[in-house]
Amino acid sequence: MHSATLAINEKLQARRAAGQKVLHLGFGEAGLPVPDSIAAVLSGAVGRNDYGPVVGSLEARDAAAGWFSRRGLPTSPEQVLFAPGSKPLLFALLASLPGDVVLPCPSWVSYAAQASLVGKRTIDVPIPGEAGGVPDPALLEQALRAARETGARPGILVLTVPDNPTGTVARRSHVQQVCAVAERWGLAVIADEIYRELVHDGQAPSATEFLPENTVVTTGLSKSMALGGWRIGLARVPDGQWGRKLLADLTGVASEIWSSLATPMQAVATHVLQDPPYVLAHVERSRQLHAAVAQAVHAEFVAAGAVCRRPEAGFYLYPDFEPVRQVLEARGITGGASLAAALLDRHGVGVLAGEAFGDTETALRARVATSLLYGQSEAERWEALNSTDPVSLPWIAASLGHLREALGDLTGQG
Ligand SMILES: Cc1ncc(COP(=O)(O)O)c(C=O)c1O
Repeated sequence: MHSATLAINEKLQARRAAGQKVLHLGFGEAGLPVPDSIAAVLSGAVGRNDYGPVVGSLEARDAAAGWFSRRGLPTSPEQVLFAPGSKPLLFALLASLPGDVVLPCPSWVSYAAQASLVGKRTIDVPIPGEAGGVPDPALLEQALRAARETGARPGILVLTVPDNPTGTVARRSHVQQVCAVAERWGLAVIADEIYRELVHDGQAPSATEFLPENTVVTTGLSKSMALGGWRIGLARVPDGQWGRKLLADLTGVASEIWSSLATPMQAVATHVLQDPPYVLAHVERSRQLHAAVAQAVHAEFVAAGAVCRRPEAGFYLYPDFEPVRQVLEARGITGGASLAAALLDRHGVGVLAGEAFGDTETALRARVATSLLYGQSEAERWEALNSTDPVSLPWIAASLGHLREALGDLTGQG
């Protein structure tokens, strides 16, 4: 089956191409342009047509080791593996690590789909009220026991900190507690930290602080640098025997499937991961833009009667229309799918139903991505990035107006 996020993107693009007015809140593309200096690194490397080592070049691994180390996670180049995006790395990890997969619910669309592709079961555990990306520590152990009784063999715990779909950052104590359970149960932790550079305010906790020997980190440049289409991802395995064996297994999968990250992209990764000051400034500005627009969109959903955690990182929201269920049911909306369909068909607003993230069918929840509101042209996106008040830019204000009207019509509030 086509991944739900990519499918809605294609559907909304087709509607736009057909001349329909569409507010695209369906896809987690970071929506920002490529800085000239980075484009220049790529064009300077187009002559590099060698395959290079499966794990990545020495330079790229060295740059990545420095990047992690400067962020408080001492790392040597031998602990790093590059890939065309973190998605194939997650797949390779699920294929290589033993056991079934424990997921926070809701969680990013591809974990469960990938687990099923490699013949593993998933054990869904609801997230805490405060923030997503981790299973509720109070429910985790009981869920593991129940899964074991039905024949599952929990082996891998996936944590998404910061989180997609909720746009929140798991509380430090929650990460600590779920890591303690992982240790007791002998689970490997996959720490998907692809949004870590985009915490709006402060820093995200990492499983590497609590379970350093059994945590593998995945990240990449798709979100922080908005280079999703360039497909630059990397993994950091822990130091020690377990990590070395895992790296060897991942390298085996990589060598049979993607061979290596495209060599010119390794040149880009080497450059960006050295943290040149203009790159850091660019990420800082994008963080501020994501925060401003996500907060403004959040306010619209709350005004329309939904409950929604405040966005804390990246560019997502996960509103819940339960408080206005009666109004929605009177309009034939009984769950996430009919909610998303009504928003699209009646109001031209594209969101993804919570079901795509493992949520229950009757939940009136949807994932809202706010990063495609920055502009249709490159000029608009640059202006949004450089603005001190992006939500008042005419095209962003118009999108917020479209959303306000749509949500007001939908719920009769706002
Ligand atoms: C939580 C999460 N993990 C991983 C990815 C994969 O990103 P990429 O393959 O571009 O590195 C995404 C992209 O949407 C994501 O939201």
